[in-house]
Amino acid sequence: MLRTITVVLLIGLLAWAYQATQPPPPKICGTPTGQPVTAPRLKLRDGRHLAYKEHGVLKEIAKHKIVYVHGFGSCRHDAVIATELSLELVEGLGIYIVSFDRPGYGESDPDPKRTVKSLALDIEELADKLGLGEKFYLTGFSMGGQVVWGCLKYIPHRLAGAVLLAPVVNYWWPGLPSNLSTEAYYKQLPQDQWTLRVAHYIPWLIYWWNTQKWFPASSVIAGKIDIFSSQDLQLLPTLARKQLYLPQIKQQGDYESIHRDMIIGFGSWEFDPLDLDNPFPNNEGSVHLWQGDDDRLVPVLVQRYIAEKLPWIQYHELPGAGHMFPVADGMSDAIIKTFLLCEK
Ligand SMILES: *[C@@H]1O[C@H](CO)[C@@H](O)[C@H](O)[C@H]1NC(C)=O
Repeated sequence: MLRTITVVLLIGLLAWAYQATQPPPPKICGTPTGQPVTAPRLKLRDGRHLAYKEHGVLKEIAKHKIVYVHGFGSCRHDAVIATELSLELVEGLGIYIVSFDRPGYGESDPDPKRTVKSLALDIEELADKLGLGEKFYLTGFSMGGQVVWGCLKYIPHRLAGAVLLAPVVNYWWPGLPSNLSTEAYYKQLPQDQWTLRVAHYIPWLIYWWNTQKWFPASSVIAGKIDIFSSQDLQLLPTLARKQLYLPQIKQQGDYESIHRDMIIGFGSWEFDPLDLDNPFPNNEGSVHLWQGDDDRLVPVLVQRYIAEKLPWIQYHELPGAGHMFPVADGMSDAIIKTFLLCEK
């Protein structure tokens, strides 16, 4: 009798534990369980839809066509370069920018098979379906900056140039010296160290970890004040306009948007950005990396090392800047001018 009760309790416990690790199915936009589709979308080869937003001059008359990749917990509206550029620069240089919801965010279908490579190929397909031509420029911020590494690896022949703005580093890239990545890793809050450990070593637990209430999980998801530098705090009023579309970002569910983002971003990569060759050996384009030296999310020490290892990167370090510097007054103009005007 006692044994039976124990077995039943154990099975119940296991079933409960299993249940807690299972994310609910995504509420896909344009289906009965999801929100209606409001953005223009295109259909990818595998049937998924990608929602996008166009900014700047018409692509038919544009001299510079840029694909913008948004960061963690963001969407197509968070195209910081596009939203901050002066009209004078946009019209003067003939700039067209397209931002898109990365898979699972906003109104883009989730991609349960997502990899570093698949996202690079999605970007190539987006550019082709929009008719951006043989080559286009690429800009990515934060987790979107990390996506740019994948594009430099898998679709370099399609790029006219690339900008990485405070790109998130993966502490498990093998080319990073272990003393450096260890030092940077332990500078994070303990709760973030644990979140990244779960994302890297036990990704199937990520939904449970980020939704359980026993231990503090990601401070980034929680929006803890510690992750903001003093410059970031000054920029909060500008960042506050995100409130307007905040509910749309994760409307299809946390798992296929931010949780999958963590699993991919901090997983084991199939290549190491530190091994990348110069994508523009004949100077036919340029790659720029911008980083604040007071960034509390992306360690400047690691970024410096990467820039040193890859001499074909033009590294711009901003003294006193935090993670959110692209929204600072005049910064977007400065970044885009440096990128588009100073290259060969
Ligand atoms: C890591 O070790 C290397 C070689 O021993 C040394 O030059 C470097 O300064 C160390 N870096 C850190 C961050 O401790």
